[in-house]
Amino acid sequence: MIPELRHKALRPGGRTHEEQLNASRTVLPRRTVTVPAYAKINLTLELLGVRPDGYHDLRSVVVPVDLHDDVEISVSSSSEGGRTVSGDGRTVFGQNISLSVVADGVSLAELGPPEKNLAVRAARLFLARLHELETRNPKPETFHSAFCILHSAFCIRLTKRIPLGGGLGGGSADAAAVLIGLNSLVARHSSLATSELMELGASLGSDIPALVHGGTVLMEGRGERVSPLVGANGRSPLPPLYVVLANPGVHVSTAEAYRASSDVLTSPAFSCNILSSPDRVGSASACAAWLFNGLEEAVFARHPEVAALAARMREAAGGAALMSGSGATVFALADDAEAAERVRRAVPAGCWCEVTRILPDGVMAAHGPLEA
Ligand code: C5P
Repeated sequence: MIPELRHKALRPGGRTHEEQLNASRTVLPRRTVTVPAYAKINLTLELLGVRPDGYHDLRSVVVPVDLHDDVEISVSSSSEGGRTVSGDGRTVFGQNISLSVVADGVSLAELGPPEKNLAVRAARLFLARLHELETRNPKPETFHSAFCILHSAFCIRLTKRIPLGGGLGGGSADAAAVLIGLNSLVARHSSLATSELMELGASLGSDIPALVHGGTVLMEGRGERVSPLVGANGRSPLPPLYVVLANPGVHVSTAEAYRASSDVLTSPAFSCNILSSPDRVGSASACAAWLFNGLEEAVFARHPEVAALAARMREAAGGAALMSGSGATVFALADDAEAAERVRRAVPAGCWCEVTRILPDGVMAAHGPLEA
């Protein structure tokens, strides 16, 4: 049960709930925030074992690319407040969240109901956690804004450019952006630490901690262990290579891809060169030598269209192409715009295709919203 915020403490000077709410609104650093939710590609994805909970232990190099959804969160006053008391007496936060989704270049055919959307679930989780923290240990610098947020209504507006269910982490990126955006609405300089946001994200989806962290990272465990990958100069070892993304529009079940791969775990002999020599990945052809995805075999066997697309892109990109995550998106790396254009021309008509770049080091979602 979530304990109720102590109203006595919230009403200094005997102010009414309404008066307190109006006063606390003025303490919000901003009322609308837009956070770019960057897509990711997996340059490696090793399946190391099956865990007792049925998930897989992974080791994956996750790299953000410049293709992004926009996640806009607006706070508005709500006469009913943003919480309700459920049948079993629990206080449930985030009841007044409306979701609108706009397609910008992708199909929304697979969009489920709002209550299942990861962005909405992330908002509810954040609000419950904020309430828990402010009840247990109120911080003078965020107490009033937290009170205001917890009693508000929200509108989340997603502008989708990342294909749904395509192995590019679009839904996870939106959820990560919601966690970061709501946190920035409570306090200009973070209310929850990034590690706490990552922990919240891990309970919703395996890719979310890496996307909350941002930057080029090594993801391990179920996805909850994230460490930045840096070269000798302390920065990401990857240059901002061009990335051609293509998707044949087939639906791949992530759970099925993992299940079918359980008996083809990655050999312990596989050596992920980026880890042993992170400074030798300066070009697309250098990367081609160590691109690896342990889910490819199972997905290619079930979806020949994905296998055919990967074969074409691999040929056009001199080997530097791979399926991302559980697919169906295939990416190719290229050193310059001309090479990227050659790969793009090899993508069959009818496929969704986008040319983007690896995000430059330092542009990380966790650094905060770019627009307020
Ligand atoms: O965590 P997420 O919801 O993204 O995972 C989707 C599915 O992928 C899970 O239900 C699980 O079947 C599979 N998975 C896995 N091991 C992981 C991550 C995902 O088996 N580390």
